[in-house]
Amino acid sequence: MLSELKTTIPDFDKYERIFIGSPTWNMALPQFVVSFIDNNDFNGKTIIPFNRHGGYGAGSTFRQLSTSAKGADVLEGYTVKSGEETNGLMLSIRNKNREKISNEINTWLETFNQLKN
Ligand SMILES: Cc1cc2nc3c(=O)[nH]c(=O)nc-3n(C[C@H](O)[C@H](O)[C@H](O)COP(=O)(O)O)c2cc1C
Repeated sequence: MLSELKTTIPDFDKYERIFIGSPTWNMALPQFVVSFIDNNDFNGKTIIPFNRHGGYGAGSTFRQLSTSAKGADVLEGYTVKSGEETNGLMLSIRNKNREKISNEINTWLETFNQLKN
């Protein structure tokens, strides 16, 4: 159950750069991601956010991270439309999208040198 998910991570203070991926739910961050942010100290850390959505975009998810994770540097996020679960297509990278999305992610990561470190 979602309510039983752990919202803290062992040795959290050792991590400097943290990728946070989330879906868009009701054009916002799901509550379990909000709980994760609220239950951990992000001061001085760098957050690299990414998002999957069902066709309406990231909504307020990236802005919420910036305002909720106090003291963190939140870098530009990457967002992509998800698969079409109702049609049995679960992956964004299906078929012709694989190369396109792979290139987009590489470009996104290169903007802050995440491919090298
Ligand atoms: C409760 C719920 C609310 C959702 N709300 C939105 C929404 O407001 N806008 C949108 O584009 N997609 C919405 N979606 C679609 C999800 O963003 C999509 O299923 C998700 O990106 C799939 O990625 P995942 O398999 O990584 O969870 C919603 C899905 C659920 C289950």
